[in-house]
Amino acid sequence: MLNKTSILKVDDLSVEDILKVMETADSFKDISKREIKKVPTLRGKTVVNLFFEPSTRTKTSFEVAAKRLSADMINFAASSSSLKKGESIMDTLRTILAMQVDLIVIRHSDSGTVKLVDDFVEIPVINAGDGKHQHPTQALLDLYTIRTRFEKFEGLKVAIAGDFLNSRVARSDIAIFEKMGMEVSLVAPAMLLPEDYSGFKVSHCIDDIIEEVDVLYLLRMQFERQDRKFYPSVKEYNRFLSLDMERLAKMKEGAVVMHPGPVNRGIEISDEVMGKRKSPSDRVLIEEQVTSGVAVRMALLYLVLA
Ligand code: CP
Repeated sequence: MLNKTSILKVDDLSVEDILKVMETADSFKDISKREIKKVPTLRGKTVVNLFFEPSTRTKTSFEVAAKRLSADMINFAASSSSLKKGESIMDTLRTILAMQVDLIVIRHSDSGTVKLVDDFVEIPVINAGDGKHQHPTQALLDLYTIRTRFEKFEGLKVAIAGDFLNSRVARSDIAIFEKMGMEVSLVAPAMLLPEDYSGFKVSHCIDDIIEEVDVLYLLRMQFERQDRKFYPSVKEYNRFLSLDMERLAKMKEGAVVMHPGPVNRGIEISDEVMGKRKSPSDRVLIEEQVTSGVAVRMALLYLVLA
């Protein structure tokens, strides 16, 4: 069982917790390959997906994970709820808690709201992304995906590239990669790199690191969080930070490319490289990350609830 019941940030998890999640995900991943993709493990438990911000991957994979373990899943969409009639978040929570749910999975656009909710409720809470702060389940599924391609984490060279300023994925992934002994470097222009990333090895162009990394992790440009223009033009972004076929070809044997999704095609990754992801043996792991997400979220639901 995990040391903490709620999962709010990567720092809440010890190395032992993380390895336990990986091992538990291993034991669940084959359920998704069966004809009957369901086991009774969490029968009688109720999970609520409380999403105050859009999501495809995280929301759907928590729902699939809960259903494969036979838990009941309630999907709450803020846009069609009584929040629109002026009900507060806390009153919304009181209403949901009155239905005797067992676990809350929550995403919110404000950093810190998930912690407020966790302080308010007595049941476990899993952070599905809060503002620019944390996305711990993304970090766990990214680590799990890396584990499918490499024998050990220690010493792996990972370069993370793009919009650090607005990225909760960057904060969570850096924390988990460093915790597991990986060598993390950053690729970004100064305007996309906040001061709290001082101390890391930083490059300004993907070309500086492309031939030496084991993992190239491309961050999404978070246009929805940018209240002003942080980068001069797409052409400039393409010149320094985008992955195209020419750069892909320079990567070393066995090296992989990851992205949390959704991809801004033609910005972080070219259309042509996106086409390459169709082959399962390929080095672009975007869909493998999504598949890992189901197994990892099954593991988390099990470890928190069972
Ligand atoms: N990676 C991720 O969080 O994607 P969604 O916004 O689609 O959930």
